[in-house]
Amino acid sequence: MHKVPVGVLGASGYAGRELCALAAAHPGLDLVFASANEQRGHRARFAGEEVTFFAPEDAPLGSAEVVFSALPHGASAAWVANARGAGARVVDLSADFRPGTNATGTRAPYGLTELVRDEIPGSEVIANPGCYPTAILLGVAPLFREALVLPGGVINISAASGVTGAGYGARHELMFAELAEDFRAYAVGNAHRHLPEMQAMVQKLGGKGNDILFTPHLLPVARGILATITIPLTRSIADPASIWRKHYGTEPFIEISDTPPTLRDVVRRNVVRISATMAENLRQPTVIVIAAIDNLIKGAAGQAIQNANVLLGIEERTGLPL
Ligand SMILES: NC(=O)c1ccc[n+]([C@@H]2O[C@H](COP(=O)([O-])OP(=O)(O)OC[C@H]3O[C@@H](n4cnc5c(N)ncnc54)[C@H](OP(=O)(O)O)[C@@H]3O)[C@@H](O)[C@H]2O)c1
Repeated sequence: MHKVPVGVLGASGYAGRELCALAAAHPGLDLVFASANEQRGHRARFAGEEVTFFAPEDAPLGSAEVVFSALPHGASAAWVANARGAGARVVDLSADFRPGTNATGTRAPYGLTELVRDEIPGSEVIANPGCYPTAILLGVAPLFREALVLPGGVINISAASGVTGAGYGARHELMFAELAEDFRAYAVGNAHRHLPEMQAMVQKLGGKGNDILFTPHLLPVARGILATITIPLTRSIADPASIWRKHYGTEPFIEISDTPPTLRDVVRRNVVRISATMAENLRQPTVIVIAAIDNLIKGAAGQAIQNANVLLGIEERTGLPL
């Protein structure tokens, strides 16, 4: 197979390391550079090959056909512009090009692959979704497509993420002794930075005045997201899982489960696993959707590779852990 040269910006971070590992093991991709900031000059092994992290200024952007940017929000946009200037197409993992937070004006499909597959080929920049939104939006989308969501109804989400979701940077509240054997909510008050992209996508999916109330939690594990989503419906559904089965059919990276998924079902896999159960003892028909992903794979690097596969015309499952 001809190998497409790719580079990773922010390769020394949590998402970037996963990207390097997937790209290095991918039969259709050739990892030609990896950048770091404070860790510039450090070495790491991916798929048996030793890689030295360049400073971004020294990364040979023009040698890559596709550049993955796993840089922090705010820092990414300028490097995406540099990569495009050097002739590369870009899959950006930051929020800089996502709907609701794209201040650049650049046209960039929101790469929730299963929902926007047709928009990806021919794109110069793809805005890879946030980790929580990946689980949540894939979880709720079929209900909007079936026009089952109560107009004006609030979509209530309680979700928990492993600590890698916060990135590699050192912070006191992320130290082991602060986290272990504890469980806490954060960004309480419905102002988390993932809200704008979820609101934009709910609109695109046909939401009618539906607000999102999102409360994230910090789970003392390294990786994984579990989101519990309650959605008021226009009517009760006898077999709720059938809605997801109908919409996702043979999607290779979406699993519909008869029992609530757990993190063990999804960790280190490029899948979202979803269950749906009608709530009893409520006057308003309400469905409880539970969606689980690995934040670093389906919620970041795996989905980015999935988007690159579609962009490059490579079979979508190639190089991705099922
Ligand atoms: N973690 C997740 O679960 C997740 C999921 C979805 C999307 N994302 C997104 O992916 C991106 C990376 O997240 P992450 O969690 O992997 O972050 P991270 O662990 O903090 O890694 C950030 C990377 O960017 C580099 N970097 C930091 N500031 C830089 C600057 N000013 N110029 C150039 N390079 C710089 C860092 O290099 P040094 O370490 O060498 O300083 C590191 O390689 C973010 O935009 C994040 O929102 C993350």
